[in-house]
Amino acid sequence: MKKLSLLLCCCFITFLSFGQAGKTTLAIIPEPVTTVIKPGQFILPKTVVIQAAASTDMEKAATYLKNKLTTSTGAFVTIKNTFAAPATIKLLLYPKQDATLGKEGYHLWVTAKGIIIKANEPAGLFYGVQTLVQLFPKEIESPQVVSHVKWTAPCVDITDYPRFAWRGLMLDVSRHFFTKEEVKQYIDQMVRYKFNLLHMHLTDDEGWRIEIKSLPRLTTVGAYNVKKVGEFGNFSQPKADEPRTYGGFYTQDDIRELVQYGKDRFLNIMPEVDVPGHSLAAVVAYPELSCTPGAENYKVRSGEHMMNFGKNGITALVDNTLNPSSEKTYAFLDKVMTEVAQLFPFGYIHLGGDECAKNFWAQSDSVKALMQKEGLKNMEEVQAYFEKRLEKIVESKGKKFMGWDEIIEGGLGPNAAVMSWRGIQGGITASKLGHEVVMSPTTFAYLDYMQSDRVMEPHVYESLRLSKAYQFEPVPDSAVAKLILGGQANLWTEQVFNFRQVEYMTWPRGFAIAESVWSPKEKKNWDNFYPRVEKQFPRFNEAEIKYAPSMYDPDFDASMTVDSVMKVTLTNEIPNLDIYYSFDNSYPDRFYPKYTEPLLVPEDATQLRVITYRGKEPIGRMVTMPIAELKRRLQKRE
Ligand code: ACM
Repeated sequence: MKKLSLLLCCCFITFLSFGQAGKTTLAIIPEPVTTVIKPGQFILPKTVVIQAAASTDMEKAATYLKNKLTTSTGAFVTIKNTFAAPATIKLLLYPKQDATLGKEGYHLWVTAKGIIIKANEPAGLFYGVQTLVQLFPKEIESPQVVSHVKWTAPCVDITDYPRFAWRGLMLDVSRHFFTKEEVKQYIDQMVRYKFNLLHMHLTDDEGWRIEIKSLPRLTTVGAYNVKKVGEFGNFSQPKADEPRTYGGFYTQDDIRELVQYGKDRFLNIMPEVDVPGHSLAAVVAYPELSCTPGAENYKVRSGEHMMNFGKNGITALVDNTLNPSSEKTYAFLDKVMTEVAQLFPFGYIHLGGDECAKNFWAQSDSVKALMQKEGLKNMEEVQAYFEKRLEKIVESKGKKFMGWDEIIEGGLGPNAAVMSWRGIQGGITASKLGHEVVMSPTTFAYLDYMQSDRVMEPHVYESLRLSKAYQFEPVPDSAVAKLILGGQANLWTEQVFNFRQVEYMTWPRGFAIAESVWSPKEKKNWDNFYPRVEKQFPRFNEAEIKYAPSMYDPDFDASMTVDSVMKVTLTNEIPNLDIYYSFDNSYPDRFYPKYTEPLLVPEDATQLRVITYRGKEPIGRMVTMPIAELKRRLQKRE
């Protein structure tokens, strides 16, 4: 009886502590496999001991946590390798593997007495640390010590492991160059959400970004263009006297430093050398790589119009391809691959293969002779001949060959891995042919696309809203699931001129991708996801990382009534927001008319302005939609 009353008493206290604090909700991204919230909380002491066995990889997780805690909380944190001393936070490896966790999974126990993270491998500890950080108040993300914060974490038991081994983001550092320090910042942001692969798009028509010592002109000439600002793709032709000083490249020491920086955070870097198309920077450096006479007059492109994407294929206005019929091309690629393979320990090298315009190949006698000699029936087979030779070169350096899904078209090489970007079909096809696949379809995973209405975003040809990105499913029903290595999102940077915009384009859609490649499929739920996204925003404010608030911008849909009056329907991406509007050119607030049904546009109105609120708080940006723009859209649809 005594025991029973003690138990009842404990339950009551537990109930009270929950009742007082309100329901504890966590906002971890990506959502862990299982989370059990326990009563009580851990309070971070002023002096913290992190216990981690003496091994370099264990130290990485411990050092990361130490830096995070020290920077923002000001706690005095030490790492101890001895098991005798009492510790606040223990990072432990299972002596016998826990089969459910795999290489990157972890268990995290937060109790009032202390914290334990256990994993099979140090990578799991690192991810456990990332989850733990998200349990602390937002100020933990501050780059300076924040006083007056109670540094608590709710008591939890979490078991977590990734759905896929390949969890990537691609950063295009060719269209616009991002410095080594900026790439490190990107890595820092990625690993918080358990991404483990940075794909660097290192070469393109606008710049060659990696030092190749045996081919110095690639960077002395190929890394620089004329700086232009505005709408990439429509830039004016650079004049002969404009300085070609914009751009830059990573030295081999820079690359080694970045690779190590990633490794210290359990992240690999995959290099991409995009050939045979998108190769103008290489051709400018070494014109003998082109099959087109006059290539020595070409210049590295800044973003002036150069390619046409038509129904009948892609044509280029200047020949930005490598000559598939010249041995010089393969000798060049052998040199490049020798150095690239030595610099990047990751098992795969990405060789592009996308959007290769073939109109100059079709005019080349040398390419025609190659077709005759090799019995190649069309230009796709010419590209396939090129890809297969390149695959052998890559494999001769001990690496696996990966390319965009165009490499399927003329017939895949024996071991080629495919990155499916033009939707998921390429990935399905390749997996059925027995090839490894990474899914990164434009439909869900293209971070260069606009995030809300085009009147609000730098112009790109398509939009990809957060809710759509969240629908990313890397394993379509008809694919051979075991060959899908995982998924990634791609940030092309034609319209991304600075690193703040890199951040803006990546987050929050990067959260959607992170959850799609880490969390169990059945755990994904938009209604549960967007509130967690919203809880990340104040953390990003603390961390001084930019993100897009585009999920608060409504969608506009115009139609005509039978009486020929324009009608505008507004739809919010997330529920329970109010939209206030004006047609009189003034700035609406919550004292303006509230949107409750489709709006009839007054005959003489020139613009519709809207803003979203949550209760009394403005939450969205002021969106100004010209009526003429809605008319244009209607006409386009007709
Ligand atoms: C691509 O987006 N051109 C791979």
